[in-house]
Amino acid sequence: MKKAIVTGGAGFIGSHLADSLIKDGLDVHIIDDLSSGKLEHLPDAASFHQLDISSQETRELITSIKPDVIYHLAAQADVNRSLDDPHTDMLVNVGGTINILEACRSLSLKKFVFSSTSAVYGNSPESVLTEDLPVSPLSYYGLSKLVAERYITLYHDLFSIPYTILRYGNVYGPRQTAKGEGGVIAVFTEKLSKGEPLKVNGDGLQTRDYVYVQDIVSANRAAGDIQDVGTFVVGTGIPTSLLEVIKTLENHTGQSIPYTHGADRPGDIKHSCLNPALINRTLGWAHRYDMDMGISETLRRR
Ligand SMILES: NC(=O)c1ccc[n+]([C@@H]2O[C@H](COP(=O)([O-])OP(=O)(O)OC[C@H]3O[C@@H](n4cnc5c(N)ncnc54)[C@H](O)[C@@H]3O)[C@@H](O)[C@H]2O)c1
Repeated sequence: MKKAIVTGGAGFIGSHLADSLIKDGLDVHIIDDLSSGKLEHLPDAASFHQLDISSQETRELITSIKPDVIYHLAAQADVNRSLDDPHTDMLVNVGGTINILEACRSLSLKKFVFSSTSAVYGNSPESVLTEDLPVSPLSYYGLSKLVAERYITLYHDLFSIPYTILRYGNVYGPRQTAKGEGGVIAVFTEKLSKGEPLKVNGDGLQTRDYVYVQDIVSANRAAGDIQDVGTFVVGTGIPTSLLEVIKTLENHTGQSIPYTHGADRPGDIKHSCLNPALINRTLGWAHRYDMDMGISETLRRR
């Protein structure tokens, strides 16, 4: 039976990925310290190891499991927290990744799939992001992900560890919390459930590439199953404004949603969208959920 390790498998994206792997009959091991993940997200059939990815125990565990594939999602993924506490951010996102890669040296791993972020581009002058554009993160979180990426590619060059790096747009879906990266839809749905008004930063016309979590799962699955090594942006290629997000929420809840406008968030970029041409060509991946379907599922499975 094929063995997979999912780090961060009690978290938002990792738990959906673990569900999908279990459904396909894999032997799934989840490593998570539950710092933001939740026990109730864990699939029953997975083996759960409550460990810090930076620990010696994690390294020994990976060596003993001898996985075919590692999906590395565990991270300090809260951008604001990275700005308040860059040291912890670096220890988890860089140190934890190196710790796992060290364990991989002695394994014949088929694939190391890494969850990265379009935050590595920072405030790019290009509104449509592709893999070949210069990177220049604007947060310690983005920087730590970029440094982890560089360690991964170097471990491949030095020790032939095969990898796929996936740089996601704004992921959303059930189980997402208002914290973490790209959580605006989670913030909005949480406020709606409490009957609180929404606050829109700036004019609400800023656009992002929102990707439904099941599409991120399918990108990970494609990456884990294919031999090609590489770095890909994962997005729909469709920019959606905050006001359009609210409109879609209104359509699905059947109610008019009150909101107020706040100040622009300093450093926020106006438009960001990801061109999925390379991942489409190489991994055969394309998004299946548009905003309408994704919001509908998010509200239904809340
Ligand atoms: N959500 C997004 O929009 C988005 C966008 C781009 C990239 N990502 C990346 O995708 C991955 C998953 O993000 P998510 O949104 O599911 O976040 P999440 O916070 O829900 O999941 C992260 C998981 O990692 C675990 N974790 C944190 N530190 C750990 C440690 N030291 N040892 C073991 N486990 C630890 C947490 O408990 C949590 O379960 C992260 O690597 C994140 O950077 C997310």
